[in-house]
Amino acid sequence: MAERWRPAQEWELAPDDVIDVWRFDLEVRGHDWAILTPDEARAARRIVVDEKRDRKASSRGHLRRILARYLSTRPKDVRFTYGEHGKPMLAEHDEPRFNLSDSESKGLVAVCWGARIGVDIEFAREERAFTDIADRFFSPTESAALRALPSEDRPAAFYRAWTRKEAYLKAWGTGLSFGSDRFTLDYAGDGPGSLLTTEMPDDEASRWHFRGVELGPAYTGAICFEGPDRPLRWWTI
Ligand SMILES: CC(C)(COP(=O)(O)OP(=O)(O)OC[C@H]1O[C@@H](n2cnc3c(N)ncnc32)[C@H](O)[C@@H]1OP(=O)(O)O)[C@@H](O)C(=O)NCCC(=O)NCCS
Repeated sequence: MAERWRPAQEWELAPDDVIDVWRFDLEVRGHDWAILTPDEARAARRIVVDEKRDRKASSRGHLRRILARYLSTRPKDVRFTYGEHGKPMLAEHDEPRFNLSDSESKGLVAVCWGARIGVDIEFAREERAFTDIADRFFSPTESAALRALPSEDRPAAFYRAWTRKEAYLKAWGTGLSFGSDRFTLDYAGDGPGSLLTTEMPDDEASRWHFRGVELGPAYTGAICFEGPDRPLRWWTI
């Protein structure tokens, strides 16, 4: 059962020991547009479809509201800087680390201290050529594992692998500059999964932890974070 927001004093006791996970619907709230910077509002306004434009504003608005709580500041005063491949980080603080993903009408933000973190959610739209996409984006071992499954099990396994792979890349912040076929996950079964091998410079597979995220029918979500392993604390706003 997701928890509602509680006052900061109660949960700031041991922030290093937990990953905070925020789930939300991408509905525009009253101040969403007003708390965006001119650059953020301009980027959102470039989106042609009304619903998608509002969802982009809502997603950034939620991110600002969430981070403001940790920083004890106003949402509009949260300042971002961006990594080489566009990963947002806090401009004036090293911590907490965070990452955001949105898809269709849902959004997800994870926040933690002392570890790289990445999240991804995907809305399953239609039947897709799962094995062909896997041949292109997965490692040969992962792709073979997908083909070995009965065809009715492939869609769920595909999204499980895809979101975990994307979450790992988002934890590093590399975007597409690091090939998604250059690391291999064990994503069999309903468990969290694990990283088996990686060619990422200065990385070790055993350093990473994965978790699935429940978001409702047709959604798959994943979180990837660096050790030590720790529990997730769920929030809904
Ligand atoms: C941005 C990117 C990292 C993810 O895009 P996406 O899956 O379409 O979108 P998501 O909703 O999951 O994430 C977008 C958010 O991630 C954050 N983000 C942007 N660049 C990022 C990066 N390099 N690293 C981590 N997070 C990033 C931002 O908060 C962004 O939201 P914003 O645009 O409102 O600021 C994309 O550039 C990318 O590289 N995707 C890889 C796709 C791929 O081939 N995956 C293969 C998996 S097998």
